[in-house]
Amino acid sequence: MGSVGRKALKATLPSLKTKYNPHIIIANGENAASGRGITQSIAKDFFDWGVHGITLGNHTWDNKEIFDFIDDEPRMVRPANFPPGTPGLGHTIIKANGKELAIVNLQGRTFLPAIDCPFRASDEIIDQLRKKHKHILVDFHAEATSEKIAMGWHLDGRASIVVGTHTHVQSNDDTILPNGTAYLTDAGMVGPREGILGMERDAVLRKFKTQLPVRFQVDNGKWHFHGVFVQLDDATGKALKMEKIRILEDDWIMD
Ligand SMILES: [Fe+2]
Repeated sequence: MGSVGRKALKATLPSLKTKYNPHIIIANGENAASGRGITQSIAKDFFDWGVHGITLGNHTWDNKEIFDFIDDEPRMVRPANFPPGTPGLGHTIIKANGKELAIVNLQGRTFLPAIDCPFRASDEIIDQLRKKHKHILVDFHAEATSEKIAMGWHLDGRASIVVGTHTHVQSNDDTILPNGTAYLTDAGMVGPREGILGMERDAVLRKFKTQLPVRFQVDNGKWHFHGVFVQLDDATGKALKMEKIRILEDDWIMD
């Protein structure tokens, strides 16, 4: 989220790569540009720093530059249940380090705009992908924990990983479901930790206290980094191991 989040990503990825040696790294980038959408140069930075695929969400269209490049960027996905004809891809195949991962972006519709049903959209896409791909990650960009947990169970055994984004707060319910899907309600964010969900806190407090219109800005304070590492079985696509990642700026040196 914002420049603080980008700084955190750049600073932290080398250590994470050394520690986990991942084949493929996926990041949600919908708040990367000042909290509102993503630009082409930020996407390029992500890829240069080692990210292989980018997912988005309800802020996909907030930076108008997105329309100039989303149709030419096969490594980036916006929610697949946006209306038919929307620019960009809802799912794509990421290839890196000799491995393949299908990534799918879906958006919830509880406390978010009423779009197409993410469950029905997931059935259609996942059933199609499974004909050719064993390793499938779903980023379910949603607000309500119940809707996200429901998606985890809905896709258990059909997707390798179902991880939520959007709340900016990492949940503590990482689990491998009975049929082999690694599930986490929310991966949490990479961004400012002294604000409120990454936004400058005085403005958010003013909004809560006065209910007057307030313009929010991304906070500039210290960062925190949240994510999740998942190891998948090469042969079956099922999850073998998952581990939440949480690093605070002041003590980010890793063993
Ligand atoms: Fe979001």
